[in-house]
Amino acid sequence: MSRRTLTFSIFRYNPYDPEFEPRMQEYVLEETPRMTLFTALTDIREKLDPSLQFDFVCRSAVCGSCALLVNGRPRLACRTRTDEIPRRITLHPLPFFRLIGDLSVDTGSWFAQMAGRVQSWVHTTRPFDPASEEGRMSNEQALAIYELDRCIECGCCLAACATAHMRDDFLGAAGLLRIARFLIDPRDQRTDGDFFEVVGTDEGVFGCVGLLACHDYCPKNLPLMTQLAYLRRKLALASLRPPLRWILRQIARRVA
Ligand code: SF4
Ligand code: F3S
Ligand code: FES
Repeated sequence: MSRRTLTFSIFRYNPYDPEFEPRMQEYVLEETPRMTLFTALTDIREKLDPSLQFDFVCRSAVCGSCALLVNGRPRLACRTRTDEIPRRITLHPLPFFRLIGDLSVDTGSWFAQMAGRVQSWVHTTRPFDPASEEGRMSNEQALAIYELDRCIECGCCLAACATAHMRDDFLGAAGLLRIARFLIDPRDQRTDGDFFEVVGTDEGVFGCVGLLACHDYCPKNLPLMTQLAYLRRKLALASLRPPLRWILRQIARRVA
């Protein structure tokens, strides 16, 4: 099979240089077998332009740092093969996050503040005793938590979400998924009402209007559609006064 010539149009901007005008810059590269966008960007930086900024750490879809917009869609550079996409490739940095330069954005600060906002730790009154036996949970519980813990904090879900584009205080699918993860953790003693206090707002679970682009573009295929719907139903119920909640449960039982 003859090799293709790839044409990259890449967003260039240095927000720290007042003289630097944002622009698109073209680079032409020969495609190599099994080339990924990550290897293509590395080639461009090594052979054509050492000033090009982009992020990577693991090169294997684990660290989440190489996410960018590929022809307008959020993807991981290290997991996107060039032979899966047309030979003209447009790359932009992820929107929503603070731009560091060119394709590099600061997702870390956003995820750190989100972890604080959703109180991302097991809340328990049990005193910590390092000599005691490890707390037990069923295999099903452990697997369910593991499934939601697979988030690599890449930011693709926020970059894809129109609600996040309209309001930068929105927790997005990644923040709401973090709550869903603690909601099913048997060690966490918080009640539904406690979780409602944290994310029962328009910046939280009620700001999500079910657009589901987060679900479509999550590179780890996390079950965002199911988890967001579950969380919304559960916390909507927690917001009601106890008698009304009881009546709705009775109706639901009869319908079932
Ligand atoms: Fe990335 Fe998916 Fe986690 Fe969002 S939920 S940050 S898209 S891995
Ligand atoms: Fe946005 Fe996903 Fe909700 S795309 S509006 S967080 S379903
Ligand atoms: Fe780590 Fe791509 S380099 S996810």
